[in-house]
Amino acid sequence: MRTLNVAIIGQNFMGKAHSHAWSNAGRFFDLPAKPILKVAVGRDQATLRDFAERWGWQETASDWREVVQRDDVDVVDVAVPNDMHAEIAIAAAEAGKHVFCEKPIGLDADEARRMLAAAERAGVVHYLNHNYRRTPAVMLAKQLIDEGFVGRIFHWRGAYLQDWIVDPDFPLTWHLQAERAGAGPHFDLGSHNVDLARFLVGEISSVSAMTARFVEARPLPGAGAATFSAGSGGSGEKGPVTVEDAAFVVAEFANGALGTIETSRFALGRKNHHTFEIYGSDGSILFDLERLNELQVFSRHDAAHVQGFRTVLATESVHPYIDAWWPPGHVIGYEHGFHHAVVDFVHAVVDGTPLAPTFADGLRETLVLEAALESARSGRRMEVEPA
Ligand SMILES: NC(=O)c1ccc[n+]([C@@H]2O[C@H](COP(=O)([O-])OP(=O)(O)OC[C@H]3O[C@@H](n4cnc5c(N)ncnc54)[C@H](O)[C@@H]3O)[C@@H](O)[C@H]2O)c1
Repeated sequence: MRTLNVAIIGQNFMGKAHSHAWSNAGRFFDLPAKPILKVAVGRDQATLRDFAERWGWQETASDWREVVQRDDVDVVDVAVPNDMHAEIAIAAAEAGKHVFCEKPIGLDADEARRMLAAAERAGVVHYLNHNYRRTPAVMLAKQLIDEGFVGRIFHWRGAYLQDWIVDPDFPLTWHLQAERAGAGPHFDLGSHNVDLARFLVGEISSVSAMTARFVEARPLPGAGAATFSAGSGGSGEKGPVTVEDAAFVVAEFANGALGTIETSRFALGRKNHHTFEIYGSDGSILFDLERLNELQVFSRHDAAHVQGFRTVLATESVHPYIDAWWPPGHVIGYEHGFHHAVVDFVHAVVDGTPLAPTFADGLRETLVLEAALESARSGRRMEVEPA
């Protein structure tokens, strides 16, 4: 069987989620090539060796620049903070490697443009990991919209709310520094919600937005500080938070729909509350990631005496990807979206099956996100620049 040698850069939260998917997807799905977990690249060699052993990476390395040049690497998986995406993805593409890259695509639209140009020039597969698209219930929402269940779409009501930095003593991790993250929850969480809005409703043409920062300075992090964790140590000194803590956007879609996109890491009790509501002329659809197997649907065409929202459990074999997993009702979870992304990525590399979202989508969504930041700064409604 054909093999695809994968190099992963990054060994923490996304490092684990991706490693699990690369090693496990072929057990459930018939893949046209077997992913080989060739080499894991990280900064901390002691923990990297444990990581590699636990997840089955054959080798470890410390310098991603050397690794992306290796003849025995076919795919580069970018699972590091946002400020490193562009440099790694461009170097990998120029070395002829297919690129599987975490979101948001980079720090700004300029980086996204350069990443897209490099990948197109090299003719490699480029994928931006908005894993939530590949949740069966979300794919079902897309199918229902395409089949006309919703009719003309009037509204997108999107939100992605978390609460992990409400404590003012939570340290100044890379997520809270503009030069490393680009922006705060607006990029981190908003990129996911804009991706689903574009996937399900269409292009966003103009935006108005407000942002807020609730904590101005935070303790400098100790070693190992990463997503959702405070790390160890810390000097007691503080540094400035340079991203927003929350962003609320009103969006106009090219097809006339009106939407909202709320993101915050200060919504106490909301752990990973990624939701959308779509309201149309014939029906409505609601999704909540914390109930990811379910889709709430309402149809105006149901008989009047039984009208109301009903819950579809998207775990039947007719639902996307489910046939490869478990019998009906044997629900799937967060990690499955990463598996589905790996499956479709491998097909794109081996048999050219179209894959989305790509770096072109990353550029478009960044233009939306940047227009919203500019609106928040200027107090003006902003047209979204064409890609
Ligand atoms: N798709 C999703 O749902 C999702 C969820 C969380 C994070 N992300 C994205 O994934 C990316 C990584 O996020 P995370 O939460 O895993 O971050 P993290 O802080 O938990 O881990 C980052 C990793 O990058 C490593 N790293 C940093 N600099 C490096 C270098 N020079 N060489 C090698 N390794 C280096 C760190 O050691 C660490 O292992 C970010 O872009 C983030 O936005 C996506």
